[in-house]
Amino acid sequence: MAEKVKVMISKEEVAGRIAEIAAAISAEYEGRYLHMICVLKGGVFFMTELSKHLTVPCSLDFMSVSSYGNAMKSSGKIEVLKDLDEPIEGRDVLVVEDIIDSGRTLSYLLEMLKDRSPKSLKLCTLLDKPECRVADVHVDYTGFQVPDVFVVGYGLDYQQKYRNLPFIGVVEL
Ligand code: IMP
Ligand code: MG
Repeated sequence: MAEKVKVMISKEEVAGRIAEIAAAISAEYEGRYLHMICVLKGGVFFMTELSKHLTVPCSLDFMSVSSYGNAMKSSGKIEVLKDLDEPIEGRDVLVVEDIIDSGRTLSYLLEMLKDRSPKSLKLCTLLDKPECRVADVHVDYTGFQVPDVFVVGYGLDYQQKYRNLPFIGVVEL
């Protein structure tokens, strides 16, 4: 059964906004060395694109967590499937996510990372669904706020499909 995907945010809009966020991050971290942490798999496309526009030196690390949800919603229970390769103590850390929905995944993850004593810890997300927030999460950089609809593309999947779309779309089941 094939779903239809309708464009919500075009390829050009996404690309332009990422360049803008990268400029803001470059300005904030000027003279410093940024350590970016991507939450797999969804954050990969955004983080790599964002990093290409940065004018500050940066390094990248990856983490994978499962949130025991069904296809469309996360449940709040989180397990670390793949931890970071490197310690973050004393580093300027920026967590890069695809989307913040209930906020449960990120509030858990940020608490865990705080315990590792980074010099600073900030959060950057391509998409935010503020209406859906259950856990309190402070977002430092947001690409776009979206309504409470299930979106795909630019890293976001529906049953592991559509991550590779260069735009943000809505799945029509
Ligand atoms: P949270 O813990 O509810 O904030 O869930 C965040 C995670 O749920 C994201 O990292 C995504 O993997 C997934 N998610 C939430 N909303 C969507 C959506 O609209 N499309 C695809 N994945 C989503
Ligand atoms: Mg994700």
